[in-house]
Amino acid sequence: MADLSINIAGIKSPNPFWVASGPPANTAYQAHRAFDAGWGGVVWKTIGDPVVNVSSRYSALNSGTTRMVGLNNIELISDRSPETNFREIAEVKKRWPNHAVIASLMVDTRERWHEFVKRSADCGADGIELNFGCPHGMCERGMGSAVGQQPAVAEKIVSWVMEAATIPVIVKLTPNITDVTAAARAAKRAGGNAISLINTINSITQVNLDNLCPEPFVGGLSSHGGYCGPAVKPIALNMVQSCAADPDVRLPISGIGGVQTWRDAAEFIALGSTSVQVCTAIMHYGFRIVADMKDGLNDYLDSKGMKSVMELVGKAVPTLQKWETLDLNYKRIAKIDYNKCIGCNLCYIACEDGAHQAIALVPPNGHGLGPGRVPGKPVPEIKEHECVGCNLCSLVCPVDNCINMTTIPTGREHMSWSEYQGRVARGEMQPIPPHP
Ligand SMILES: Cc1cc2nc3c(=O)[nH]c(=O)nc-3n(C[C@H](O)[C@H](O)[C@H](O)COP(=O)(O)O)c2cc1C
Ligand code: SF4
Ligand code: SF4
Repeated sequence: MADLSINIAGIKSPNPFWVASGPPANTAYQAHRAFDAGWGGVVWKTIGDPVVNVSSRYSALNSGTTRMVGLNNIELISDRSPETNFREIAEVKKRWPNHAVIASLMVDTRERWHEFVKRSADCGADGIELNFGCPHGMCERGMGSAVGQQPAVAEKIVSWVMEAATIPVIVKLTPNITDVTAAARAAKRAGGNAISLINTINSITQVNLDNLCPEPFVGGLSSHGGYCGPAVKPIALNMVQSCAADPDVRLPISGIGGVQTWRDAAEFIALGSTSVQVCTAIMHYGFRIVADMKDGLNDYLDSKGMKSVMELVGKAVPTLQKWETLDLNYKRIAKIDYNKCIGCNLCYIACEDGAHQAIALVPPNGHGLGPGRVPGKPVPEIKEHECVGCNLCSLVCPVDNCINMTTIPTGREHMSWSEYQGRVARGEMQPIPPHP
């Protein structure tokens, strides 16, 4: 069994799975339940001057039978008093000395930051997370994403925090920015010890077509909300990798956004995260999901011969490079496993209308018969010379591993776009003619 324990900027945790700042991390009762279930850390619901919330607060995007593929909220930071929150953190730390408890903070002035940073350390928190990400309500008051969107302002506030900090400081970044690395670099310049990302993305998930008001509905109006859940994972992975690959950032990362399985977590870790935070999946399925996450990650690390989860951190980061470095002479094409094909012909229509007309419908002679396929009905057949290897058919095929993308040798040596441009400019080769 691999060692799942981590150390991120000096914060130790028995495993990389942390409850993200949000409704599941609102009270000591929930933190106890989370640790009982096996979570390694809890980032407390953001503490600041108490706020007043609206009713209702959440809205969602469903897809087919899957509920909450994306979740949207217009909730603010903790509406409990700082006294209650800090007292409960102290209680939780007393009972769980080896687990990570992080105080998430959001206040306004330098004095208030100093005060809240000190109170966090005094109550025994292992670290502090600065919420520079909340995209609704708090930003209208000059906090949250209003800070995270302006690297110079973020840098100033992190430097205020560092003046008073005696425990590690994680700067939580907003995705509502053109270049998240600009904010990450600001955190680094100001002396922050780690970054976490992403917070929620500005969004409207749905408009109620009866009353013509978006959800969540608050007495005839709504507001732009923060989007999270499985739908945001690709955006979060992209931002995490960008920060991990940036030589001017070089800070430990806590990855957040759409994690609900061990695979999601492993992907975040491979792209540079040391810990991984989860909010929506807990709101959907409860704290119990961490048991499968720990087992799955353990089995995966064993299968890769890795003795510690720290060995996985950042392993996939260098495999993402600029487009211009990719090999123009690499080729893969689609291959159909007819013993699995159910004859739905979704691949045919996708390629015919949405891609490259590289699939024909042919009599089934000689092809195997997959489950449920009607004998004699035409089957899809890849026109190998037309297939550009775009992947679309394999993405729409409803049967796992029925269409496999297969590398085929081209006999041509590696040539990137930059190399191609150079060779053409030097007259070493003719430009490749465009497709007819
Ligand atoms: C209802 C709700 C409330 C949230 N409140 C906070 C908060 O107080 N502070 C904070 O830093 N992030 C807050 N978040 C953002 C989460 O911590 C997290 O960054 C985001 O939801 C992405 O992770 P997920 O896809 O696992 O939900 C909140 C998210 C939700 C859904
Ligand atoms: S989409 Fe898949 S299952 Fe459907 S016809 Fe094509 S190969 Fe067969
Ligand atoms: S990989 Fe693209 S081009 Fe090739 S058959 Fe599939 S959809 Fe058509």
